[in-house]
Amino acid sequence: MSQPLPASPGTASHEHVVGMGTVLDHVRTPREVLRPHIVEFRNVTKTYNVGKAEEFTAIRDVNFVVEDIADKGEFICVLGPSGCGKSTILRLIAGLEPQYPATGGDVLVLGKPVIGSGSDRGMVFQDYTSFDHRTVLENVTFGLECLHMPRKQRDELGREWIQKMGLNVENDAQKYPHELSGGMRQRVAIARTLALKPRIILMDEPFGALDPLTRLNMQDLLVKLWKEVQATVFFITHSIEEAVFLGDRVYLMSNSPGTITEELKIEPANRPAHEMQRQPEFLEAVYYIRDKITKLESNP
Ligand SMILES: Nc1ncnc2c1ncn2[C@@H]1O[C@H](COP(=O)(O)OP(=O)(O)OP(=O)(O)O)[C@@H](O)[C@H]1O
Ligand SMILES: [Mg+2]
Repeated sequence: MSQPLPASPGTASHEHVVGMGTVLDHVRTPREVLRPHIVEFRNVTKTYNVGKAEEFTAIRDVNFVVEDIADKGEFICVLGPSGCGKSTILRLIAGLEPQYPATGGDVLVLGKPVIGSGSDRGMVFQDYTSFDHRTVLENVTFGLECLHMPRKQRDELGREWIQKMGLNVENDAQKYPHELSGGMRQRVAIARTLALKPRIILMDEPFGALDPLTRLNMQDLLVKLWKEVQATVFFITHSIEEAVFLGDRVYLMSNSPGTITEELKIEPANRPAHEMQRQPEFLEAVYYIRDKITKLESNP
């Protein structure tokens, strides 16, 4: 059994350890967090199709706060039953319609209300979004082009990111998306987001469609690159193993209308995924979360 992680200033002392995780006795409130807040939800509610027959409240009174940890960032994973509102939360942070704007409450990024999308937030989707008529290099440099970075400079940076993502500059840079495997396409999408160095990276099940081995490799790569980009990451996944491996912190959500019911601190990923994910302490944390989610799924 591992030792409890040191408590953040102001957090409650009634925490309990589950292997590599520490379960807080409640979701932290802004007053308990001493550092500036990079993302904060205050009583956020989202109702779709307001006033119509199909009106539906996806999330209700969602409250949480994420600290702005300088030169490091935090890796936040969000887990919960299907349809509980995970993507809704992520897209509210991104400022993407129709999730944005919220129907109630405040979504704050660096203390200011979110007003639409912005280059401080980068999004990676599950379905390998890329521009079919652009080469790998042109896809990776798309955001930089939008920022009017001169061609030579952005191509150089693009090639750097292609290499960092484990693609081959010589062979792959001039290929088109249809010439790539799913794993390669997702590397391109991630490179496009990371090249912009956003303060917040929003990832919605980015590895959900990959085979298990590619997925483990991508997890290791993401840990390595995240240390380099020093951003706050919001990562949605259905894989509890992935969340416990990648997350510094895990939020568990209830059924819809979703709300955050539990917050866990998790030991950082300091070994390769295939090694770490076999350890008893790792599995203890996974089983704890699995029991919670199973209970939620059987009590809709
Ligand atoms: N644009 C929309 N219009 C109407 N209802 C929506 C819309 N987007 C999402 N919903 C509904 O809101 C609820 C939450 O959706 P959301 O996509 O946030 O869930 P999720 O937790 O990401 O689910 P999954 O794990 O399956 O991806 C669902 O019931 C969904 O049908
Ligand atoms: Mg979703």
